[in-house]
Amino acid sequence: MVYQNILLETNDRIATLTINRPDKRNALNQLTRDEILQALDSLAASAEARVLIVTGAGDKAFIAGADIGEFEGRTSLTQRESMKGRRIFDAIEEFPKPVIAMINGFCLGGGMELALACDLRFAANNAKLGQAEINLGIIPGGGGTQRLTRLTGEGKAMELILTGDLIDAAQAKEIGLVNDVFPAADLRNRVFAIAARIAEKSPIALRTAKEAVKTAARTNLREGLDRETDLFCLTFGSEDKAEGVRAFLEKRKAEFKGL
Ligand code: COA
Repeated sequence: MVYQNILLETNDRIATLTINRPDKRNALNQLTRDEILQALDSLAASAEARVLIVTGAGDKAFIAGADIGEFEGRTSLTQRESMKGRRIFDAIEEFPKPVIAMINGFCLGGGMELALACDLRFAANNAKLGQAEINLGIIPGGGGTQRLTRLTGEGKAMELILTGDLIDAAQAKEIGLVNDVFPAADLRNRVFAIAARIAEKSPIALRTAKEAVKTAARTNLREGLDRETDLFCLTFGSEDKAEGVRAFLEKRKAEFKGL
């Protein structure tokens, strides 16, 4: 598959999807969104890829939001039409493998929303993050009002969304928006080391754990606990569970095959 606006590679079980429009600060236009969806489908089906890292090309931006040029001339109706169908944010949230946002610069608007849909977020110390839509006279439309609020609480989400202000990586960590912050020069190595540790686990357990955690935001506590019990028991049907338990008892490292 030849892509124009993204780069895709898989090495040592870790897939990397790089938004590759550095001249446009990796802004998400329609073609880029289409290519992200295609890439997610191919990676979901790949037995080799166990963890996905999403990042931006160049040293300036992760993703500087939706491509604002595409908003010009759009009406409520034509914008609604353009948003029909599968959305990248939901596709990432529902992707059956862990997804890590490696935030290497400006992470704005739709870029923030993409990062929010990921399972883990790690930022370079020089990254800047914000929901800047309000400055364009619009509001976040890729899940920002919902996922940011769930992650940081209403007060911080409201502040970011109403002011459109950018915050630095350290502030983002303080409010729980990013998991950790690393010096820009170390970001890649640190994130790949975390991804490698996750990639060693059972793909079935990873997928099930992701689904169980995601359930927390979608349901009440009782239903969530019941779902967790079901999913927990489901993992007992895998060969990976047999291997994990056996390896512990035999005092050796488990080799998970995803079966
Ligand atoms: N959509 C379309 N084009 C964008 C863009 C976006 N979201 N973000 C940046 N670009 C383009 C610029 O128009 C410029 O294009 P040009 O060279 O053809 O003029 C190029 O990327 C470089 O941007 P520039 O502003 O010169 O870079 P910078 O490093 O000085 O500033 C930003 C980077 C991200 C702070 C700034 O580009 C910006 O504020 N972008 C918009 C962010 C935003 O509002 N996002 C929310 C969208 S809903």
